[in-house]
Amino acid sequence: MTASPRSGASRIALITGGSRGLGRSAALALAADGVDVILTCVSNEAGAQAVVSEIEAKGRRAVALRLDVGDSKTFPAFAEAVKAALAATWQRERFDFLVNNAGVGLHASFEETTEAQFDMLFNIHFKGTYFLTQKLLPLINDGGRIVNLSSGLTRFAMAGASAYAAMKGGVETLTRYLAKELGARGIAVNTIAPGAIETDFSGGMVRDNPQVNAMVAGFTALGRAGLPDDVGGAIASVLGEGNRWVNAQRIEVSGGMLV
Ligand SMILES: NC(=O)c1ccc[n+]([C@@H]2O[C@H](COP(=O)([O-])OP(=O)(O)OC[C@H]3O[C@@H](n4cnc5c(N)ncnc54)[C@H](OP(=O)(O)O)[C@@H]3O)[C@@H](O)[C@H]2O)c1
Repeated sequence: MTASPRSGASRIALITGGSRGLGRSAALALAADGVDVILTCVSNEAGAQAVVSEIEAKGRRAVALRLDVGDSKTFPAFAEAVKAALAATWQRERFDFLVNNAGVGLHASFEETTEAQFDMLFNIHFKGTYFLTQKLLPLINDGGRIVNLSSGLTRFAMAGASAYAAMKGGVETLTRYLAKELGARGIAVNTIAPGAIETDFSGGMVRDNPQVNAMVAGFTALGRAGLPDDVGGAIASVLGEGNRWVNAQRIEVSGGMLV
């Protein structure tokens, strides 16, 4: 059970993109650690509701909200929806952990990447993380934590990921600046950088394409591609009480890719 800073009160995590993949796994791992969850989806409401039911089956409380992290104009209304959910479900005004996880992939060479694709990745991964965090900050408890999702692709380069990886590089820099500025409120901010994981991401390439899967396994020290729970458990762990002094770090969760 994760220790609570306030006696008797469970902690609450807000996870963007909790309807499937890594966000879903993180939501379930946090619930198993005694954390309640607000999760978001952009279109997959059935998936989000299924995760809510799984969390409730573990005896925790959960709420699903709709959010497009690529559309910052909607963030004020989303913050109001979060406030309303906190009041209705928890009789609280704030939550404890923000996990900026929602995202999409793109495979396109540098020469072929269009401005529209670049803007889409910028809005979802970088601008979304920046301004959603800014908008939600008044709703995060002092002593809370933030985890931003990056990628192994910021450490090693693979053709076809220049725009995506550059946005994630921005997220990693932002993490250090947030840690610096939010330390005064006791808020720790870290990056989790997954390696190649078997989810729907990038058309399910790592999971569904046997050649890609074998290639990833071949350059991973632990000898296989990652599974969602490899990352969900790491996110829950970095938000656990035992990791409260970890701050401003990039933690790669890749089984040792390309070491
Ligand atoms: N899988 C990998 O190999 C890998 C590796 C490194 C980093 N990452 C990063 O890990 C994070 C999660 O990836 P994943 O593998 O779990 O992906 P996934 O299985 O494709 O799931 C994506 C999640 O993000 C949500 N989402 C997508 N676009 C959104 C938008 N515009 N606004 C709000 N939510 C949106 C989806 O909601 P709906 O279900 O409603 O569509 C879904 O919950 C991403 O930031 C990704 O860049 C993944």
